[in-house]
Amino acid sequence: MRKIGFGIIGAGMIAEYHAHSIKSLDNVELIGFFDTNLEAAKKRAAEFNCQVYQSLEELLADPAIEAVTIATPSGLHGEIAIAAAKAKKHILCEKPIEITTEKVDEIIKSCEENNVLLVPVFQIRYTPHVQTVLKAMKAGRFGKMLLASAKMRWFRSEEYYKSSNWRGTWNMDGGGALMNQAIHMIDLLLYINGDVESVFAYSGTLTHDIEVEDNLCAVVKYQNGSFGTIEVSTSCAPGFPRELEFSGSAGTVAFGDDKITNWSFVEELPEDEEIKKELATPADAQGGTSPTNINMTGHACQIADLANAILNNSKPVMDIYEGKRAVELICGIYESAKTGKPYIFKKSAGSEK
Ligand SMILES: NC(=O)c1ccc[n+]([C@@H]2O[C@H](COP(=O)([O-])OP(=O)(O)OC[C@H]3O[C@@H](n4cnc5c(N)ncnc54)[C@H](O)[C@@H]3O)[C@@H](O)[C@H]2O)c1
Repeated sequence: MRKIGFGIIGAGMIAEYHAHSIKSLDNVELIGFFDTNLEAAKKRAAEFNCQVYQSLEELLADPAIEAVTIATPSGLHGEIAIAAAKAKKHILCEKPIEITTEKVDEIIKSCEENNVLLVPVFQIRYTPHVQTVLKAMKAGRFGKMLLASAKMRWFRSEEYYKSSNWRGTWNMDGGGALMNQAIHMIDLLLYINGDVESVFAYSGTLTHDIEVEDNLCAVVKYQNGSFGTIEVSTSCAPGFPRELEFSGSAGTVAFGDDKITNWSFVEELPEDEEIKKELATPADAQGGTSPTNINMTGHACQIADLANAILNNSKPVMDIYEGKRAVELICGIYESAKTGKPYIFKKSAGSEK
């Protein structure tokens, strides 16, 4: 069986998830790590029994590497992705793929010009409860969509923000609770309820000594005419499960990090009984209390998606354009919070391809 050789760029916290995911799959192989902190790369390479590269150029020049994963600070994703695309390496890029829509567009242009694939990491899309809700939405079970909202009451300590010099900075994190932590929820709102027409937001840094926001509240109007609120915080000790809620004229569904918490439709189906069994136990707070409390399954699905697309010369299920949607909406929310005015998207967040 042909195996796709992977190199991992950045050997910090999330790189461990990339490495375990690669090791868990049959049609991919972990070749090595590069990190500007050589000791970090050496530690991971020893852990996963693979090579260490001394420079990005050396890793990108290795013909054994057909694809890379980018696990560096967010504000560096663009320059690394463009270097990888020019070296004709396919890419799995951590969220956010970049911190401004302009930089995302530069990555898209480079991938298109060099004919390489880029899969943006939004691993929560692959969880069963998200797929269950999406299926109900596609089947029209909600009736007319009315509300689609997200609530994140998470906690990140001062030590977390001090643990790496890029965290909590505008130029490398690209924002705070919204861009770093809540981006997964933003992606899910867009994935399930569709594009956004306009937003209005307030944001503030209320409890941490950081440049970016640790609390933000936004009101959104979707293209389909529905409304929603987005409340995010990294100040709420000890941290609670995320909540997303979708209401239409014929149904309301809510889910937390790992499970559905409300499943109510005017017209019930036999399959609803199985789904409702989940409701008896509360959702786990997962990443709400700790940045390392992340389920590994989604990353493996995304690496498999990229590897299968390379092997079959096909498109991945999750393409580069999907990675732009959340960044575009987040940047619009930040613009509204900065100007104190609603931000109206030119077409809609994420609709330009
Ligand atoms: N998908 C998720 O749920 C999830 C969770 C956590 C982090 N992330 C994303 O992963 C990325 C990394 O986050 P992290 O928590 O692992 O950060 P981290 O600080 O733990 O690790 C980043 C690593 O990148 C290295 N690095 C810095 N500049 C580099 C360069 N130019 N070339 C190579 N390596 C370089 C650092 O030395 C460090 O080891 C971020 O974009 C973050 O948003 C995603």
